[in-house]
Amino acid sequence: MLRTALLAAGRSRACRAAVERAPVTRELVARYVAGSTLEEALGAVEALAADREVTLDHLGEDVTDAARARATVDAYTRLLAELARTGLAARAEVSVKLSAVGRLLPRDGEKIALDNARRICAAAAEAGTAVTLDMEDHTAVDATLGILAALRADFPSTGAVLQAYLRRTEADCRDLSGAGSRVRLCKGAYDEPESVAYRDRREVDRSYVRCLRILMRGTGYPMVATHDPRLVAIAGRLAEDAGRGPADYEHQMLYGVRDREQRRLAAEGRRMRVYVPYGDEWYGYFMRRLAERPANVAFFARSLLSR
Ligand code: FDA
Repeated sequence: MLRTALLAAGRSRACRAAVERAPVTRELVARYVAGSTLEEALGAVEALAADREVTLDHLGEDVTDAARARATVDAYTRLLAELARTGLAARAEVSVKLSAVGRLLPRDGEKIALDNARRICAAAAEAGTAVTLDMEDHTAVDATLGILAALRADFPSTGAVLQAYLRRTEADCRDLSGAGSRVRLCKGAYDEPESVAYRDRREVDRSYVRCLRILMRGTGYPMVATHDPRLVAIAGRLAEDAGRGPADYEHQMLYGVRDREQRRLAAEGRRMRVYVPYGDEWYGYFMRRLAERPANVAFFARSLLSR
């Protein structure tokens, strides 16, 4: 219930104003967000790049005007040019939310999002790196996979995210398990109805294992996005059973979450990629991170009450 309330608050303007004003917020946000500027983001990438790879997210979502969608594209092209200039592109790709580049615009949203995502993919190709399309709530899945297919015709390394909590995802994994396909499998971060999603944590975990087995047995490149120690261990076994070596899949975790485990996996010789968000539009992202971790909420609530 708490999770549902937090995720609803993540979409409320009134809650946004209150959370953004709370002094304790900055401290918690800094745990999950690498900074508000491009320079701060690049600093975080440099610090991680010695033993880990990175995917950078210029924060923003649910954009409802075309100018802001264009501004997001410009932010990504600047970022990719800097990654190329500094040589960090060898260790970093970018993650993009289609709703940040226009998917929800009232007229021709999907076409605008495709055109904008294409510009980002072209800039990534020029920099020598790739793009992964983040996945948003279940109403976005068909549009996102349609745009992915269109992008892959020109930029075959474009990756997708699939969410194990959705009932449809096993079938999507089968469709996307072929050669050249890059799929990030995560549990899923939105509040979804029972009709389309498993709501019991154990059911989500079982679905994750079924989906991961399909991806590991396929010929694509699985990206195992979870901090769950059980699933991390299972991923290693499934990879071995499928005859995959350490270069044939990767682990992914979020900036600020289980840093010691990230370093441990990297030191074991596993490929470890960190999702690094930056920018001023951190509210929705931050609320999803709070919803994942009740301990954060208790800390947050205590700090608010003790003011
Ligand atoms: P689970 O939530 O069970 O957490 C396992 C353990 O990890 C916890 O016990 C805790 O120790 C730690 N942990 C997890 N979340 C934490 C947090 N916020 N703060 C502190 N500790 C935490 N989702 C989505 O819908 N679309 C997307 O595109 C993406 N993209 C994405 C990229 C990457 C690289 C990752 C790692 C995750 C995503 N996600 C996502 C988020 C994902 O769906 C999921 O909500 C979170 O990863 C939490 O689920 P876990 O698998 O980590 O398990």
